[in-house]
Amino acid sequence: MRVLVTGGTGFIGSHTVVELIEAGHQVVIVDNLVNSKRSVLDRVARISGTAPEFHEADIRDETALDRIVGGGGFEAVVHFAGLKAVGESVRRPLDYWEVNVGGSTTLFRVLDRNDVRTVVFSSSATVYGDPDEVPVTEATPIKPATNPYGGTKQVIEQILTDLHASDPRWNVALLRYFNPVGAHASGLIGEDPNDIPNNLMPIVAQVAAGKLPEVNVYGNDYPTRDGSGVRDYIHVVDLAEGHLAALDRLAVDSGRHVWNLGTGNGTTVLEVIAAFSAATGRDIPYRPAARRPGDVAETWADVTKAERELGWRAGRTVDEMCADTWRWQQYALTLDG
Ligand code: NAD
Ligand code: UD1
Repeated sequence: MRVLVTGGTGFIGSHTVVELIEAGHQVVIVDNLVNSKRSVLDRVARISGTAPEFHEADIRDETALDRIVGGGGFEAVVHFAGLKAVGESVRRPLDYWEVNVGGSTTLFRVLDRNDVRTVVFSSSATVYGDPDEVPVTEATPIKPATNPYGGTKQVIEQILTDLHASDPRWNVALLRYFNPVGAHASGLIGEDPNDIPNNLMPIVAQVAAGKLPEVNVYGNDYPTRDGSGVRDYIHVVDLAEGHLAALDRLAVDSGRHVWNLGTGNGTTVLEVIAAFSAATGRDIPYRPAARRPGDVAETWADVTKAERELGWRAGRTVDEMCADTWRWQQYALTLDG
């Protein structure tokens, strides 16, 4: 297949591009590099043997998109491009609505005009908010969003749902990711946060590297097995493989589909710290801190539907997620220096 990947130089995008190339697909990336580096392309080529075609463009730029998509012969689009920091979305809501929702509607309009109507979209478990029960299935009710980032994911899901209802030629996969972490086993690509990260795994990695002094464990009195928060961490390469499985499924089962992409297992914050320490042989100082506003005690995925319909399973362990994050972290330090 010839596949357009928006946001393809980013964290999840770059890993998906590697898997797409290795599966024999032709990949064309559109990214404005606001949160990624052009050098990712060389590193993707080192891993996969092929450099993907790349266009530095903004998904809000209809003219640029028309030029890329028109006559491009695309059979499908994997749409990652967008802004993703929850806290920043509270401070800069207009940017989030404009880039995520405005950019997506512009992209979908261009796709429609050019008869490309198969879309795999990066949604998030954040659409479930604080779920009434775990594990979370695809039928678990969507809760009102508690921040603009989550709001944009819900709205883009709705737009794609409306498009499919308006014209069944729209073939849509809404992939609700749980907590993507880890890096490619080569250590050449991974998450490359611009500033001080907000998510647990990159923070733990930076503490292990001595870049941050300690991990604040947000909450030690949650009703969980050790009092810290529980999440469903999924290795980014498993997640990338889930996108290929979704594309394959859309090819034989057109429609509008929702799939949770997680492992089906919950891990506590303290367990992540212990696993990272074991994987690296380093001491990871931590201290209890107040609960982070907006956090839920525990959430993990019911992955029965994804496993049944996609024939896919996230098999990489938390230990592998930690070891791969660490390998990448050490390589990334040499890149920055
Ligand atoms: P990322 O920031 O690494 O990748 C996003 C990419 O989109 C970046 O390369 C960025 O430069 C690009 N981009 C941003 N705005 C753009 C624009 N206007 N035009 C063109 N390109 C633009 O983030 P990621 O972690 O790889 O996330 C990819 C997608 O998955 C996002 O939509 C994100 O919301 C979603 N998601 C991520 C997580 C997570 O924990 N990482 C969880 C759930 C969903
Ligand atoms: C967060 C976002 C979510 C987004 C996801 C992307 C919030 C409220 N939610 O999810 O919308 O889709 O990132 O991956 O921001 N923790 C600590 N100390 C830290 C950092 C985190 O104890 O320094 C804990 C958190 O309380 C949580 C767990 O680690 O229990 C995971 O946190 P994080 O990696 O930020 O992910 P989420 O909060 O699940």
